Formats: sequence, structure tokens, C-alpha cells
Amino acid sequence: MTDATIARIFPLPSEEGLGDDGIASLYSDGTEGLPWVRVNFVSSIDGAATQQGLSAGLSDAADRRVFAILRRLCDVVLVGAGTVRAEGYSAMRVDDASERARVAAGLTPHPVFAIVSASLDLDPASPIFQQAPERPIVFTTSLSRPDTREALAEVADVEICGRDRVEAGAMVKILAERGLGRIHCEGGPHLFGDLIASGELDELCLTVSPRLEAGVASRISTGASPIAPVGMRLAHTLVSGSTLLLRYVKA
Ligand SMILES: NC(=O)c1ccc[n+]([C@@H]2O[C@H](COP(=O)([O-])OP(=O)(O)OC[C@H]3O[C@@H](n4cnc5c(N)ncnc54)[C@H](OP(=O)(O)O)[C@@H]3O)[C@@H](O)[C@H]2O)c1
Repeated sequence: MTDATIARIFPLPSEEGLGDDGIASLYSDGTEGLPWVRVNFVSSIDGAATQQGLSAGLSDAADRRVFAILRRLCDVVLVGAGTVRAEGYSAMRVDDASERARVAAGLTPHPVFAIVSASLDLDPASPIFQQAPERPIVFTTSLSRPDTREALAEVADVEICGRDRVEAGAMVKILAERGLGRIHCEGGPHLFGDLIASGELDELCLTVSPRLEAGVASRISTGASPIAPVGMRLAHTLVSGSTLLLRYVKA
């Protein structure tokens, strides 16, 4: 098995070389009840969520393939501002094949980009906003600066959800009310921690990258207060070379 060839090993039977539609259908299974909050991460075997401060060094062709397919399936891509800044996000635009698949499935050509930020350290002049095919949403707090909120409101819908932190439950409710119930979160670890703690998480897609990083990298969730462990059920395991692509849903 080479490059981005992806096969299913759980549940059996396995097939060799799944096509994009087959993979998309595996990731759609059981997500009919909306809102549905899916989170996608890549981690090294020893739990690092970054290599040299970014996720790219942990990723491979199979991870990137699933990453793109997950964007095909959602109404909105939700990302914490720390990840938006670190990873240098641009406008939320999928490729032509994904755009065709989305339209055929009755979705908008591109997902809405929703960004979570307390500081509002986001540039309204950036391509994220200026080149957005769908008007972005910025979730923030009532303690954020009113003048910064006003500047961002020129280029995005600004929603206040909480006093000093964005409350995940309120945010998910607003997205669902806007008809954006297929919520796909691409991180990062602080936002993921809040989604777990709030009970809003339905699914984790985790790529286990076949490497050991050691060092002091963050793990995939952090920050939130300790909570009772959330039980998850394995929905499928895909494999590509030595890379595992795991899908867990809330038990
Ligand atoms: N391995 C992977 O798959 C993966 C995926 C994503 C990210 N990452 C990595 O993770 C690192 C970033 O980590 P991070 O924990 O800083 O990411 P993050 O959760 O995206 O960013 C944290 C920031 O997002 C905003 N935020 C998140 N949740 C919030 C809430 N409930 N209320 C208000 N604001 C909220 C705040 O922004 P403000 O500061 O603007 O207030 C906060 O400082 C990067 O190195 C990135 O490469 C890895």
C-alpha cells in the first residue's frame, strides 16, 4: 500500500483501495441527527499534536486526503484563532472536485468558515475575510473590544457567546439555528478541550502518524477544566501504509 491508498480494516470485511466516495460514506454513517460536531486531528504515536509548532510535519497524503473529504461533508469549518494564526489559514475554499461533490449533496459550494476568538486578533483585511466565498462567522465574547468587533462585522458575522470565553454549547446552538448543523472542527487543542468539556463533541477523527516526537508538543486537547472521562466508540479504522485513520463517536 503506497501514498494515499486507504483501506478499511475495521469493521471487517476490509477492501483494498477505497475511493473518495466510499471514504466519504464511511464518515457520513450515523451523522444524520443534527447538530453533529466532528473534530479532526493528527497526532504522533507518542501524542504530539505538532512538529515544530505545526501539524503539517505529522501529516501525510492519506491524512490530507481524509482532511479534504471531511471538508466535503460539512456546513461549517470551525477553528480556534490560535490555529488560524499558527497554521496560516486563508479563505475557506475547497477544490473543484469537492465543490462538485458538495453541490451534488445539496450543500453550499464551500463551507462557511467560523473562527473562535476572545482577543479578536484577526485581520479584517486578510484573505480569510476578503476572499471568502461564504461570509465567515467570528464567535467571540462580550469582553472583546467593541471597536474590533465593529471592524470585523464589516467582513463577517460576529456572534457573542459568553463573557470571557466562547461557550461551546451556545456556539453550537447558533450554528444549528443558522442551518449549519454539520459542524467540522479542525482544532486546535484549546477549542477541542472546550468542546469535550461542554459535552458538545459527537465524533473524533484521529490520524495516528507513525512517528515518535518526544519534546514538549501539546497533545490534541488541552486547557479545559478536568471532567469525567467521555466514553467513545470505535466506528472504523482505516489504514494507509503505517498510518491509522481512526473514527470514534460518542458512546
Ligand atoms: N495536530 C493537529 O491536527 C492540529 C490541529 C489544529 C491545531 N494544531 C496546532 O495547535 C496549535 C495551536 O494550539 P491552540 O490550543 O492555541 O489552538 P486553538 O484552540 O485553535 O487556539 C486557541 C485560541 O483560540 C481561541 N479560542 C479557542 N477556544 C476558545 C474559546 N472557547 N473561547 C474563546 N476563544 C477561544 C482563542 O483565541 P484568541 O487568542 O484570539 O483569544 C485561543 O487563544 C498550533 O501549533 C497548531 O499547529 C494541531
